Amino acid sequence: MNGWPGKPETVKLSKSKKFYITTPIYYVNDRPHIGHAYTTIAADMLARYHRLQGDEVTFLTGTDENAQKTVDAAAKSGENVKAYTDRLADIWKSTWDKLDISNTDFIRTTEERHIRVVQEIWKRIWDNGDIYKGKYEGLYCNGHEAFMKETDLVDGICPDHKTKPEWIVEENYFFNLKKYEKDLLKFYEDNPDFVTPVNRLNEVKSFVQQGLENISVSREKQKWGIPVPSDPKHVIYVWFDALINYISAVGIDGWIEHPADIHTVGKDIIRFHAVIWPAMLLSAKLPLPRQIMTNGFFTIDGIKISKSLGNAIDPVELVDKYGVDALRYFLLREIPYGEDGDFSETKFRERYNGELANGLGNFAARVLTLACKYDNLPRLLNLPTVLSESLAKTRQLVARHMDRFKFHETLEEIWELVSIGDAYMDSQKPWEKGDHRNTVAELTIFLLNIGEILEPFLPSTAEEIEKCITLTDPVIKVQKGKILFPRL
Ligand code: MSP
Repeated sequence: MNGWPGKPETVKLSKSKKFYITTPIYYVNDRPHIGHAYTTIAADMLARYHRLQGDEVTFLTGTDENAQKTVDAAAKSGENVKAYTDRLADIWKSTWDKLDISNTDFIRTTEERHIRVVQEIWKRIWDNGDIYKGKYEGLYCNGHEAFMKETDLVDGICPDHKTKPEWIVEENYFFNLKKYEKDLLKFYEDNPDFVTPVNRLNEVKSFVQQGLENISVSREKQKWGIPVPSDPKHVIYVWFDALINYISAVGIDGWIEHPADIHTVGKDIIRFHAVIWPAMLLSAKLPLPRQIMTNGFFTIDGIKISKSLGNAIDPVELVDKYGVDALRYFLLREIPYGEDGDFSETKFRERYNGELANGLGNFAARVLTLACKYDNLPRLLNLPTVLSESLAKTRQLVARHMDRFKFHETLEEIWELVSIGDAYMDSQKPWEKGDHRNTVAELTIFLLNIGEILEPFLPSTAEEIEKCITLTDPVIKVQKGKILFPRL
């Protein structure tokens, strides 16, 4: 039996809908910090939400390994590059496991399946006449793994990495990006949802309108990387290689059949995804992704996360201290998606105590404690109007907010249900003398619904709630379970 009052009937489609979502692939020059965790958790929440709708979800994440900074980091730790990347890739994988990330695949750009597809796409773009050989003279920032303009620098220094870009003079292959200016602008016009939030799309448009320059897509002096087909003394530029991961994981035919629905990316890498990537795909005559969903950046106690300041918080430490769902909750609830925000442990603890321990956790404990007083509860067919209507309304609002990527508002709505449940309980006083089986059954079913709505956000809490409540044919059986969010 899987239905219960308040739960909408699942639409049985003859064939489930496919949904393909990706995170950026992460550089392995460092361990994951909380900023990386944020992008990945947001993608995971959407993947889970779509799974709950019955969609067949492909959820991809992975590591971007063919960068010069990989080589530098390996040298620094005294390992050979292969051993180093293997070790780091494992750290990224286990971090995502710890954060309950439900990815269906993990791609590493040193894998054979990736290298093959990158070279194939290079050939397609070459055959289309969009790659030519030229001389590159200019500045390269290793931190960004990108070519920079003088105007990007402050006193000759990269403002993001505080390092002096290298002046490079070498023979490079170039991609004819300029050729796609008009096609891109038309594409943005025809697809106003291509980049969200919309202000980001406007930035992209005006960037393209100002005129594009062709970009260098190979490095002559770098050894680590994917060789250029037919000229293997050059390696393919790391960004050209990295973007293709989205195809290599599903195969070219897989991508043609169903390109990504959503690429989640941070605001720092929008141009790569919204300008260069679609141009590469247009040139290779492959379909474009449906949407680039962008998140803002957050600071820690008001300060930019940076390796040199040593203020990067390891998400695993937070999980060990507060539990995985507390971290997922805080990040999605505190920072309106798309905007910049701030992380502070003080705010984290405030939300934890107020909204998790005293809010949801306390409500669940009250309900389950009462329920355990009875051997079993009646399996009701309906809920009282206050409860059933608030559930129906919340489900609608959740769907609307999720469509607009208003994740923090979604959580706010769900917490409204907790207050409604608490108020209902207070009005019925089921702790007083007498038989309150019906009321307690209503509250139990209500809690079960909250758990189900919460699953994409707080998967282990949802599972914990579900584990406590067993629905059998005529009755409901309840066990108390563990405290969801112990007070700090
Ligand atoms: N390897 C490239 C992406 C290639 S995708 C084809 C890269 N990697 S990264 O490891 O440097 O960063 C990946 C992403 O982490 C950023 O785009 C961003 O989404 C996220 N974040 C890193 N720091 C962050 C914050 N401080 N705040 C929010 N997100 C942050 O770029």
